[in-house]
Amino acid sequence: MDDERDPGTPPAPPAGGVTPGVDRGDRLHAFRDDAITVTWSRRRCIHVAACVFARPDVFQPGRRPWVDVAQGDPGDVADTVLRCPTGALHYVRTDGGVAEPAPAANTIVVSRNGPVFVAADVEVTDESGAVRLVDTRVALCRCGRTANAPLCDGAHHAAGFRDAAALGDTSAVDDGDVAARPGTRLRIEPVAGGPLRVTGPFTLLGAGTGQAVAGARVKLCRCGRSANKPFCDGSHRAAEAAGG
Ligand code: FES
Repeated sequence: MDDERDPGTPPAPPAGGVTPGVDRGDRLHAFRDDAITVTWSRRRCIHVAACVFARPDVFQPGRRPWVDVAQGDPGDVADTVLRCPTGALHYVRTDGGVAEPAPAANTIVVSRNGPVFVAADVEVTDESGAVRLVDTRVALCRCGRTANAPLCDGAHHAAGFRDAAALGDTSAVDDGDVAARPGTRLRIEPVAGGPLRVTGPFTLLGAGTGQAVAGARVKLCRCGRSANKPFCDGSHRAAEAAGG
């Protein structure tokens, strides 16, 4: 069983592709028993603590190691892993149990004072358009302070980022021709110096606001400056011109 004080292990990438659930260049810690292996990415964990609240006997910060899968039924441990909204936690059943399912629909949740949480069949690219991550759960920065763009690294806390998660003018969402699009995968591309370009069928929700809008294309602000959050309103250009 890994000790999280170690730097973790970089998983071997498959030839010519990306490993589902593993961000490019990331290192993972593995915690296993005979029935299940849980992996954890320190880099992607922003301490939402959904796992800790659900199963504090299995996920216990401060204990060494902090994940002890033997404390829970493997099905319960797996269900708890799926609550992790960032994708920092994943599991592999080694007892023939159910593998991680893909979400039935693609949802994007704007959180209050924090990132955008995506639950979807999703791919995230780098600014050149190359896929760096394929996953089912991702947290995306919207304060502009992350050191692991476009993923959230928790920097919004220190930055004092404040936003109520209300959806601004939803005419920014293009409902496109969802039915004509091949497949259902969501693609998220960070535009250099600009927003996150999202394409693919999705429902966008403002957490705690009751607001929801369906679409197929949208540009989400990732600089933190838009006056029409969570959508990009072009404010990044003025900030860039001003050297900010
Ligand atoms: S990325 Fe923030 S306004 Fe465009």
